[in-house]
Amino acid sequence: MSEAIKTPAAEIDPRVFDTPEFQKDPFPIYQQLRDHHPIYHDRFHNRWIISRYWDVDGAFQDNESYDRAVYKPDGPYEFGSRHIFGPNILEYGNSGEHRRLRNIVAGQFVGQKLQDFIPMIHQISDEVIDKFIDDGEVEIVRQFASQLPIRVISNMLGLPREDEDTFVEWYQALIAGLGFGGEHLMAGLEARNEMWNYIDPLITERSKNPGEDLLSRICVAEMDGSRMSPDEVKGFVALLLAAGGDTTEKAIANMWYHLMYTRPDQLQDVIDNEDLWENTFTEMMRYDPVVHAQFRHTTREIEIHGDVIPERAGVILYLGAGNRDERAFKDPDTFNIHRDDLHMGKENRSGRYKDGKNGHLGFGIGQHFCMGYAMARQESAIACSKLAARIKNPRPKFAEHEGISSPSIDSGGFRTPDELWMTFDKN
Ligand code: HEM
Repeated sequence: MSEAIKTPAAEIDPRVFDTPEFQKDPFPIYQQLRDHHPIYHDRFHNRWIISRYWDVDGAFQDNESYDRAVYKPDGPYEFGSRHIFGPNILEYGNSGEHRRLRNIVAGQFVGQKLQDFIPMIHQISDEVIDKFIDDGEVEIVRQFASQLPIRVISNMLGLPREDEDTFVEWYQALIAGLGFGGEHLMAGLEARNEMWNYIDPLITERSKNPGEDLLSRICVAEMDGSRMSPDEVKGFVALLLAAGGDTTEKAIANMWYHLMYTRPDQLQDVIDNEDLWENTFTEMMRYDPVVHAQFRHTTREIEIHGDVIPERAGVILYLGAGNRDERAFKDPDTFNIHRDDLHMGKENRSGRYKDGKNGHLGFGIGQHFCMGYAMARQESAIACSKLAARIKNPRPKFAEHEGISSPSIDSGGFRTPDELWMTFDKN
């Protein structure tokens, strides 16, 4: 262990992780972790924390030593997100069952299959923008970002458009039911039951007479002769709403926040060149990603930087900290959509790139690498460029903003501003 790691002044009080200050601005603690405690044993919460870029990257890719599942996926008990979503891929760890489910559906969110849905993403973006364009101002979180991804997904699934608002309500109840206490839990379960009753006959029908919609594609998709069971389809649809809706809406809000408040000088660059929305997305996913932490359990004793993490230990992979590691990126605390040391193009599941530039860690890496990475990137870039094309002179309505914050990191740590007002002139 190096001298720096032993410095008493660098001790961290683990209760800091529960404070609003940390939820708002975790970056000084991340720096302290990376510099002095690259493997930090948080005795208060009984977990280990990994924070340097290459260590997080290595742990994501090391399936022999780290597993996402805490319990036996085929055990007789309900756990994790199953109570809300039903059986779903998030809870199968690194098992063969995870690979089976992933292989059946992963191809639906990339390449030509994704391209088929692009015109619809344009149309929905315009419809959402139409609702506020005459007002000269918009509250981006509620009127723009949170309206888009859920409508896009329900359209991709081929659900009737007249039911879209009901779907938005179910979605909001499901997300709240995941981690915000008793009352929300009961409302979440009710929404889940209603949604399942709604979707059951559609699954039966589309398995028999599949169309081109995503629900049909999921029902009939096969890998080595295996399809998803109806319960697995329902679980996957529910997961899609959260994994694909909640995250992407926060990504869109975060992009606008950083352009308006962190780098207003670069907002004009994006307005002038719509191709830069993809750079903005990538730099947001590095600088202050929607998801800052992922959880793993060790399957064996691991020695790293002279410290030992025991077998069966809970581990947090702080990808938000890895993304600010000066060992991987120059001037990491600067938000810069023109940076030349970050791979700006399509994300890569292996995490490393042939052109020598490092990728961001915001979609994870390896076996559990985000299935919707291409969809999230394209959807965010399309929606934002549509909005930018229809307005002039966008600017913050209020000079001051309280900033982006996470909920408690134990509830997943999705980061976004509470609200974000923008004023604009009409084009
Ligand atoms: C900006 C938006 C998004 C962010 C920040 C995000 C983030 C992530 C992260 C960090 C993981 C890795 C989990 C782990 O390693 O344990 C993940 C997995 C996953 N994501 Fe996303 N995601 C986004 C959008 C989407 C979309 C649009 C979809 C669906 C269309 C999606 C579906 C999934 C699924 C199904 C998994 C689990 C994959 C597996 O375990 O094999 N995500 N996402």
